[in-house]
Amino acid sequence: MDNRPIGIFDSGLGGLTCVREVMKIMPNENIIYFGDTGRVPYGTRSSATIVKYVRQDINFLRKFDIKFIVIACGTASSAALPHITTEYDTDIIGVVEPASKLAVNATKNGRIGVLGTSGTINSGKYSEKIGNLNPEIKVISNACPMFVPVVENGYSDSKIARMLAEEYLDVMLKNDVDTIILGCTHYPLLKKTIQDVVGDGVTLIDSGAAAAGEAKRIMEMHRLLSGSNEIGGAKYYVSDTVHGFEELGSLFLSKKIEGDVAKIDIE
Ligand code: SIN
Repeated sequence: MDNRPIGIFDSGLGGLTCVREVMKIMPNENIIYFGDTGRVPYGTRSSATIVKYVRQDINFLRKFDIKFIVIACGTASSAALPHITTEYDTDIIGVVEPASKLAVNATKNGRIGVLGTSGTINSGKYSEKIGNLNPEIKVISNACPMFVPVVENGYSDSKIARMLAEEYLDVMLKNDVDTIILGCTHYPLLKKTIQDVVGDGVTLIDSGAAAAGEAKRIMEMHRLLSGSNEIGGAKYYVSDTVHGFEELGSLFLSKKIEGDVAKIDIE
């Protein structure tokens, strides 16, 4: 048993969809969350820049004596995790492997769609991981660069979101995918819009929730789960204004975030 907190980070707000799931399936855990809101989005940046940011994010979280780290960001998981994985003695997981496993188990027709940022799609990590799990599966990937700004600015339920979804999902419909990985942790906020466009026959995989499930499985195995019977607490850190984070973050988390957010200088 280990009562130290879990560290979770993202380029911004999206990782809160993972926090929400961790709170649901591991309610006794304490959480330290970092959202790099001052430097979001990561998805359009070079791999070298993303690796640099991710090292800074991890070094910040490690100041809290955390027991486990979840990179709840599709871009950071794809473009940086493979480079930094041996640099730390703390267990670190990303979203790519857990989401790929769920998608491979879910597909019936062997056609999986992957939506992500340009950084995620260009890294080819989802295709690689799914190919390793089952080389017969066809992967159709599409970068959706406008989704993150739409979500970060609070336009998830708008006509703009619907128009973008129709544009980005056209290739998925044409290729008859039956499973789509929401490969960016911001996209679960667009789930309803995406599901409306692709229809109920398509299974959507929430990568942040998938990572939370994998974190629980590994922490159980490594005897890292909390021994407390009390509901855990969460402390949030951001690299830009606290106010915007509290407001939109409450949407991501489906509950009010108040008073537990602090701004830090990540550089
Ligand atoms: C971004 O920062 O561009 C999106 C984060 C993600 O890929 O999950």
